[in-house]
Amino acid sequence: MSLNSAVTAAYPSLLRLRRSSYIGAVPAPVTRSLLTFDAQGSSSQPFVQEVAQAVDSLYLEFRKVDNLVAHNAARVLKAFQNARVGSHHFGGSTGYGHDEGGGREALDNIFAEVVGAESAIVRSQFFSGTHAISCALFAFLRPGDELLAVAGAPYDTLEQVIGIRSSPGIGSLQDFGVTYREVPLSDDGGLNWDSLATAVMPQTRCAFIQRSCGYSWRKSLSIPEIQKAIGMIKMQNPSCMVLVDNCYGEFVEAYEPPMVGADLIAGSLIKNPGGTIAPCGGYVAGKKTWVNAAAAHLSAPGLGVDCGSTPGDVMRLLFQGLFLAPQMVGEAIKGGLLTAEVLASRGYKVQPLPRLPRHDTVQAVQLGSSERLIAFCEAVQRSCPIGSFIKPTAGSTAGYASEVIFADGTFIDGSTSELSCDGPLREPFTVFCQGGTHWTQWAFVLGEVLQVIQQNSGSEEAYFKET
Ligand SMILES: Cc1ncc(COP(=O)(O)O)c(C=O)c1O
Repeated sequence: MSLNSAVTAAYPSLLRLRRSSYIGAVPAPVTRSLLTFDAQGSSSQPFVQEVAQAVDSLYLEFRKVDNLVAHNAARVLKAFQNARVGSHHFGGSTGYGHDEGGGREALDNIFAEVVGAESAIVRSQFFSGTHAISCALFAFLRPGDELLAVAGAPYDTLEQVIGIRSSPGIGSLQDFGVTYREVPLSDDGGLNWDSLATAVMPQTRCAFIQRSCGYSWRKSLSIPEIQKAIGMIKMQNPSCMVLVDNCYGEFVEAYEPPMVGADLIAGSLIKNPGGTIAPCGGYVAGKKTWVNAAAAHLSAPGLGVDCGSTPGDVMRLLFQGLFLAPQMVGEAIKGGLLTAEVLASRGYKVQPLPRLPRHDTVQAVQLGSSERLIAFCEAVQRSCPIGSFIKPTAGSTAGYASEVIFADGTFIDGSTSELSCDGPLREPFTVFCQGGTHWTQWAFVLGEVLQVIQQNSGSEEAYFKET
């Protein structure tokens, strides 16, 4: 089913209106042989049957997502109104950025209010989530301090920031005399509460909590779990600061980590809070002192947050993206629910399980072979609006130890708030699916995916028997 015919099916009346409103044009007769409509005015089912059945079965789950979107969208709208945002805030700036029209401060204030933080710095100058998290880590940690990762190993690109994967001399935390320890996850992939109860030491200056699963087969953390973990950490050492890697978690629940005691959170604008249209950037939010310290790492000590130019139209896109973000996150969650439903019913292991409440926008599927992982990514790329003619190949990427394959036929380079999937070429060959501006695109993509994984199913039976 091509995208064109699906649009026709979904909007038949719009199509008729457009045709007949051409000035001077003779309306083209719509003949029965071209389109057939049912009683509701829709033509035949736009999705393959297996996907269509899953969509029908998820009605209640989708409705709950709509409620979440409404809740978060209302919070964002209120923050825009409180910051009295006007079009004068959208102007670009050059050079030092001293003459910009107040957009920087308004955007920071909105973001802080939305996540329940004292302060925030939202900037196009953050390269990525890794960069924002790195600035937050360097804000807290000094020589002799200990960093404790409480949710198992942190995301791959943080290994060199911390110094776990050796690149001596590049200025990792380890180069600066910061030590590192990890609380491994429990067997069920969740936090290990027993170990955490005694893990925090007097020298532990920063506890690091990764909210989303990253490239691990683990559970993403709910806000109540993050709240419980923060309580346990602070009880053992009140001066231990808590940093939450918030990537992929924003707007997935009705609360954000600063509302339950996180000292800082950090993330990327080409993920959830950029609403699929922020062209670049990241953020750090939380307690004012520490946001300022992270800002000093982004810029330089003493420069603070009142400089840095953002040329062109970028400020408007950051505002508009943040406004759209709750809605886009809702679409991504629906895409994840659908992916889990369809692939679990084929027998694949999925994380999170179908219909369970979501704590991030990522849906992981264990495919069990590199061939199937590559075929899956190729099918997704083929179904994307941009670069559909490109065949993705696994390769080395800055910051990653394993080869990774990415399918990201997206408008913004590497954007994972848009429909995309990727995965490291390592056992158990898991594909991580995320993003999407409309869940219906996932429904089309899944039709394509079902076809190719069937074609690559040589070892599928053996795989299911083993697992
Ligand atoms: C949980 C988590 N943290 C951090 C990152 C790094 O973000 P970025 O790719 O923007 O540097 C990712 C990337 O996917 C992630 O999944």
